[in-house]
Amino acid sequence: MKRILITGGCGFIGSNFIRFILKKMPKCRLVNLDKLTYAGNPKNLYDLQGDSRYRFVNGDICNIDLVREIFAEERIETVVHFAAESHVDRSIHGPGEFIQTNIFGTFNLLETARNAWLKNAGSSLFSEDCCFLHVSTDEVYGSLGATGLFSETTAYDPRSPYSASKASSDHLVSAYFHTYGLPVIITNCSNNYGPYQFPEKLIPLIINNALLGKDLPVYGDGKNVRDWLYVGDHCEAILTALQKGQVGRTYNIGGNSEKQNIEVVRLVCDLVDEMVGTLPSGKSRQELIRFVTDRPGHDRRYAIDASRIRDELGWEPSMTFEDGIRKTVQWYLENRSWSEAILDGSYQQYYEQMYAGR
Ligand code: NAD
Ligand code: TYD
Repeated sequence: MKRILITGGCGFIGSNFIRFILKKMPKCRLVNLDKLTYAGNPKNLYDLQGDSRYRFVNGDICNIDLVREIFAEERIETVVHFAAESHVDRSIHGPGEFIQTNIFGTFNLLETARNAWLKNAGSSLFSEDCCFLHVSTDEVYGSLGATGLFSETTAYDPRSPYSASKASSDHLVSAYFHTYGLPVIITNCSNNYGPYQFPEKLIPLIINNALLGKDLPVYGDGKNVRDWLYVGDHCEAILTALQKGQVGRTYNIGGNSEKQNIEVVRLVCDLVDEMVGTLPSGKSRQELIRFVTDRPGHDRRYAIDASRIRDELGWEPSMTFEDGIRKTVQWYLENRSWSEAILDGSYQQYYEQMYAGR
């Protein structure tokens, strides 16, 4: 029976991962530690109530007493660390929380794991059953020009407070491996999309605005490129890294699916038109596209070389972008109440602040 601590399990990827693991590993104990920030939504896991393998703890990874208590009480042997402030635009407006959660919170978890997992105090030996998997991003590598790919040996060059805080946390995780021998694995993944993604991110924002007939804001010239990966494929890659990965190693995870933002936005417009009909005026939703002032320091292109995880661990993405985006638009259509509950709340204020007069 694996006893796993998942941090940030009420967010987008974490909630998909929890559901995925409970299906894949009938014998496991999952403890989800989540602070329920604006991005954490217990409704993402509504279907797990009553599953005795799962426990939710509402709390902060920065609270070391709480984290220690969970490690001791639950005899945690694996950590899958998702909890983070994750949105670049918010990090530009207010970087403080990013430093606190992404750097200090990760440090807290590492310290607790180190103390809890030391087999014999002072001997620096850790049990082979333990692993700290740190979920990180390709954004730590900075911005690519028209060609080239990020590999695991690409030098870090973060450009936003978000990516800088994730880069810092990656360095801490790596330092705990080299200094203390803590069994860690780092994964650096490209942009995810799929069910339960908070509607501040490009794809769900465009789907929701398109459904509501609102403007579709595209930053700059719309030609920035992201390498899109369906969230289910990311979950599979994380499990593969946990089960087969080499301790101390980093694995890049990507979708082999580079797209310009404007291509993604146009495709979403066409899918929404196809699924619910064109706008009342008879026009296509592409008419709603508005090019707006660019994000400061906007990284031009991300693209991942995922050959290490493919060649060493046998993982490859299974979902094409065309199938994944169709499935995603369908999910948002079938789960309107999930989005509406978010859009009705403090999100309005966020949207005004971020997009008004842009
Ligand atoms: P998200 O913003 O949807 O969810 C983050 C979760 O962490 C939320 O449930 C939130 O309540 C929780 N959280 C935040 N601060 C916390 C704290 N101090 N203590 C406890 N819980 C806290 O994020 P996501 O998109 O699911 O991303 C998850 C992880 O994956 C992040 O570490 C992110 O950097 C990484 N990542 C994301 C992507 C992507 O495209 N979304 C790509 C690569 C890597
Ligand atoms: P986002 O989903 O915020 O992810 P990230 O910044 O982590 O890559 O943005 C994806 C891309 O879409 C990015 O190039 C910024 C762009 N974008 C827009 O053009 N308009 C928007 O309203 C948002 C949120 C993002």
